[in-house]
Amino acid sequence: MLELVGATVRRGDRDVLRRVNLCVGPATRMALVGPNGSGKSTLFTTLAGALELREGEVRVAGKALGRGRAELREHRRRVQLVVQDPDDQLLSADVAQDVSFGPYNLGLPEDEVRGRVQDALELFDITQLAGRATHQLSYGERKRVVSAGAIALRPSVLLLDEPSAGLDEVGTAGLLTALARLHERGTAIVLATHDVDLAYQWADEVAVLVDGELTQTDAATGLGDPELMRVAHLRVPHAITVGRALGLDPLPRTVDAALRTHKGQP
Ligand SMILES: Nc1ncnc2c1ncn2[C@@H]1O[C@H](COP(=O)(O)OP(=O)(O)O)[C@@H](O)[C@H]1O
Ligand SMILES: [Mg+2]
Repeated sequence: MLELVGATVRRGDRDVLRRVNLCVGPATRMALVGPNGSGKSTLFTTLAGALELREGEVRVAGKALGRGRAELREHRRRVQLVVQDPDDQLLSADVAQDVSFGPYNLGLPEDEVRGRVQDALELFDITQLAGRATHQLSYGERKRVVSAGAIALRPSVLLLDEPSAGLDEVGTAGLLTALARLHERGTAIVLATHDVDLAYQWADEVAVLVDGELTQTDAATGLGDPELMRVAHLRVPHAITVGRALGLDPLPRTVDAALRTHKGQP
């Protein structure tokens, strides 16, 4: 369990997060939404232990995270952040090397590193890219390589900053498949996005960040709240709008599912 308790974080001359509380439970699927500049990336960096707090604390399993080097190093392994732009995180010339970078740095034996790299490449469906030069990959491929590198460290929490930005439909479907596999393994996942339909289709919970304040609810409650979505510069997901119009309860996760339910199909 990873938490922020009363967290105030300053960037430049402004408190971007103000006394924020957030609880990332084991194996949760959480969407983080909010306007541009509302502090989503700041929240992630804080959870990953890479920013100092003015007030409050990051807690891991109920215990405040300290600032000691060994403690932070272990925290940053367990809580992996994948930033929005893959080019900020790609470190090596080829794919297999890049994904193995983290496990090697942990000092793991060579066969363990190889196994983890293989597993991470399979999870993101990019084994065929193993020998490729990273600079020759497409944007979507580079994103998957960076995500695989994070997963190779076997984190308990994965923070994905706008992973679907710039992906086409097939790319997004592939991302959802990989996230489903990770969820089955018990990894907690928080995904920052502006795509409310994707958020509602995938997430159990939602965290809405507006003006430095955070609201955490179940996905249907938060994303289905028109006023909350308005202040977050978003809209209510289509599946909720359609499901409500058709009088469906529970609300299906996709428009397709809503229409099938309405027609009485399974
Ligand atoms: N390194 C930084 N130095 C100063 N201000 C920053 C820095 N990073 C982000 N900010 C500011 O913090 C605010 C929140 O940014 P960010 O966390 O990137 O928001 P989001 O990810 O929701 O778009 C913005 O006003 C941004 O300009
Ligand atoms: Mg951001």
